[in-house]
Amino acid sequence: MTERTRVGILGATGMVGQHFVSLLEDHPWFELTWLAASERSAGKRYGEMPWRLAGNTPRYAANLPINTLDVVDAAPPLLFSALDSSVAGDAETAFARAGRLVVSNARNHRMDPLVPLLIPEVNPDHTALIEKQREGHGWPGAIVTNPNCSTVVIAMVLGALRQFHPTRVVVTTLQALSGAGYPGVASLDAVGNVVPYIGGGEEEKIETETRKILGTLERDRVKDAPFIVSATTTRVPVPDGHTAVMSIELADAPSLDEVNAALESFTAEPQQRKLPTAPARPLILHTAQDRPQPRLDVQVGRGMPVHVGRVRRCPIFGYKLVALGHNVVRGAAGAALLNAELLVARGIGLASSDGRRSGYATAEVRGA
Ligand SMILES: NC(=O)c1ccc[n+]([C@@H]2O[C@H](COP(=O)([O-])OP(=O)(O)OC[C@H]3O[C@@H](n4cnc5c(N)ncnc54)[C@H](OP(=O)(O)O)[C@@H]3O)[C@@H](O)[C@H]2O)c1
Repeated sequence: MTERTRVGILGATGMVGQHFVSLLEDHPWFELTWLAASERSAGKRYGEMPWRLAGNTPRYAANLPINTLDVVDAAPPLLFSALDSSVAGDAETAFARAGRLVVSNARNHRMDPLVPLLIPEVNPDHTALIEKQREGHGWPGAIVTNPNCSTVVIAMVLGALRQFHPTRVVVTTLQALSGAGYPGVASLDAVGNVVPYIGGGEEEKIETETRKILGTLERDRVKDAPFIVSATTTRVPVPDGHTAVMSIELADAPSLDEVNAALESFTAEPQQRKLPTAPARPLILHTAQDRPQPRLDVQVGRGMPVHVGRVRRCPIFGYKLVALGHNVVRGAAGAALLNAELLVARGIGLASSDGRRSGYATAEVRGA
């Protein structure tokens, strides 16, 4: 059996961190060997921390000690970051300076022009920014980010419809409670309620990140896609699964059949390469009028597909639909894992701490 790449998790104790631990169990390419979180958790074994997902702490991780963020040199070559944004910026930079490849969920570096904001099905070519990043920031490692948990749902739909040239998009989200981390929204605010505001620049993230993701890679930067997005974000009492209600204007004015066909047939590099975390189909098109629903659909395909339904005419923008994605899997841990698998499959090397490439094995070498 080929040796697996050692990986670690920054922010391993949080909501996203626990999903990483869960998804990395028995991963064919990656072996989880190292964990870090805040001073509050450091020094404990992972199994001593409260486990918030179904079942118990996976046994394979229970004995791993939790480190602080300052033991940079002890970290393995590939790190998944699920850090709170209050600390993610500086910490991820420090690990990249120390030669680590940091595959992050946090918002801090997403809009850095030299950092790929990656969805492997939509903009795999943006991985070319990594070389520019190393030159521009002068570090041997790298930072790669995945989008905000609602943005990924919206961008995957627009990725499938890109051929029809989107010009304007209006989106309203209904976002799950797990999107706020743990303990998240106070129960008295959440139960039987809709909160019409999500802090932290949630709407601006959707409006800007989507354009970067669907943008065109030029020499050393991404030129934003030429459409505009207007977003309203709300919090609803759903455990997992962000719903996005979208109205879309398409310059090419395709028929509804053409739109449905483009959504249904959408497939991309992760599916062609059969990456371990790639869903068989990135988008699942529903024809029943009452789908998609978080309770019925969000766990399908281990949370990695985006669901689309209610595709119909919009009297103002031309087209409207409802999309749904698992915010902590496709919107966070699963997204980052797929990003890392894409980098490995493309043979994009890690650099060692002294700046030399470490001879990181490609997917072909691994027989993947
Ligand atoms: N939840 C989602 O759906 C989602 C989706 C996409 C992106 N994200 C992003 O992913 C990141 C994690 O989100 P989450 O929902 O998992 O949050 P969370 O449950 O609050 O977890 C935050 C993690 O950061 C660690 N942390 C906090 N302060 C720290 C410090 N001063 N030093 C070191 N570690 C510290 C925590 O460690 P302790 O347990 O020791 O405090 C914990 O492991 C955030 O940047 C978030 O915006 C989340």
